[in-house]
Amino acid sequence: MIVFINYIYTADRKVGLKQMCPTIRKAYFDHSSTSVPKAPGVADRMTNYLDTGAYSIGRGGYAASLNIAQEILEARELIAELFNAADPREVIFTPSLTYALNIILSGFLREGDHVITTSMEHNSVMRPLYALKQQRGISYDPVQCDSEGALYPEDILPLIRSNTKAIVMTHASNVCGTVLPIQEVAKLCKQRDIRLIVDAAQTAGVLPIDASDIDALAFPGHKGLLGPTGIGGFIVKSDFAKQLNPILWGGTGSLSQGFKQPDFLPDKFESGTMNIAGILGLKAALAYLKEAGCESIYQHEMQLYEHFISEARTIKGMNLVGAGRVAERNIGVSQQAPQMAISEVSGSRDEDLLNTPIFLSADTYGQTSHIQKVPVVSMDFPHHDNANIAAALDKQYGIMARCGLHCAPAAHKTLGTFPQGTVRLSFGHANTLEEVDYLLESLKGLLSDGSKNISTTKGITHGV
Ligand SMILES: Cc1ncc(COP(=O)(O)O)c(C=O)c1O
Repeated sequence: MIVFINYIYTADRKVGLKQMCPTIRKAYFDHSSTSVPKAPGVADRMTNYLDTGAYSIGRGGYAASLNIAQEILEARELIAELFNAADPREVIFTPSLTYALNIILSGFLREGDHVITTSMEHNSVMRPLYALKQQRGISYDPVQCDSEGALYPEDILPLIRSNTKAIVMTHASNVCGTVLPIQEVAKLCKQRDIRLIVDAAQTAGVLPIDASDIDALAFPGHKGLLGPTGIGGFIVKSDFAKQLNPILWGGTGSLSQGFKQPDFLPDKFESGTMNIAGILGLKAALAYLKEAGCESIYQHEMQLYEHFISEARTIKGMNLVGAGRVAERNIGVSQQAPQMAISEVSGSRDEDLLNTPIFLSADTYGQTSHIQKVPVVSMDFPHHDNANIAAALDKQYGIMARCGLHCAPAAHKTLGTFPQGTVRLSFGHANTLEEVDYLLESLKGLLSDGSKNISTTKGITHGV
């Protein structure tokens, strides 16, 4: 999104920043945190609901309440359709993806259970696992991903034990955008009767996800789905749901005669009055996504991402983190190590994958591999405190980028950016090529002139 402040901008993208007032605009590159702006229609639906009759659901038999309940059901149906869930009742709404993961992990894991996770996880996976280890005596092992965040499913095999109950993994890194191969992992889980729990924080609404391969898929409403904050959820297979204990008990508007929590979906996991405004806002966003097409939004974002990467690699004084094979493709190293057909690499890839942006090369890292990305990239500035770079980008250029560890310390250890963290850029549906050029010019401006414009004070945002 561009916010124009005393706007003086030239259409000539090549104009140097010195000719442009550096504080004339704002550009948002933090869509991994939350999407801005939200989809058209989200705010209208929410304010309309709150202004013209904010009735609850499941608590009243009057028509106005039933009409809202119908809309909530339609929101479930849209989610089920998007993720290919078997039944809309398997869609559970929660206040966030973090709540969803807590409900799943806490509801499922018992003393003595073993879990496999990855070295790229967000703290919304790692902290519940750690807490359950302390409180309940579960154990877990992270499978090591490579220095660009790629996971090789075969590396999971040596970690499997007789008491391994689940693999819990992110679908894409929120630090460097690397997509992890959940379909391959799903096959591996199915063969061994291990449950697969996926954190789709960075991919829901971005990449196609088939929930029929996954036992529980946690999603946020406010990132790629373009809905409001305060709403997320999970899709749970009915047979898996039977093995989950609820972690909240209370009023559901059903079976009110007894104290026993209903054991049917979605009520088993939806106690208490819901965030109805949030679900209606999310429903408006889902309708927009259906019309606009997630695939074309993704293509747009990846175009911005690739444009950024190909130019950014020429800027001295900053390193792109976890993007080596992407940069390699752009700088033509792959001419020495020619690009290969995807089928040559894996032998069994979906035809669909051939149509999605995927960075593939016979690489210089010792093995042939592929990396698919979502439009998230991290930068490390070896001569500066990264916090100061992010602060200067904001203050001097109006560029909003997140700095620090992005709640994923394990991922930074994997990528070699712990403890300093990174400055992260994530591109969204409303970003434009002009904004990316502005970003590139800003970075060049900041790092030029002996970097006089950057504070030398040590930043305080490492732990963010
Ligand atoms: C990979 C990943 N997992 C989990 C989360 C947590 O999502 P939420 O804060 O919406 O619960 C995020 C948020 O940035 C994330 O990027």
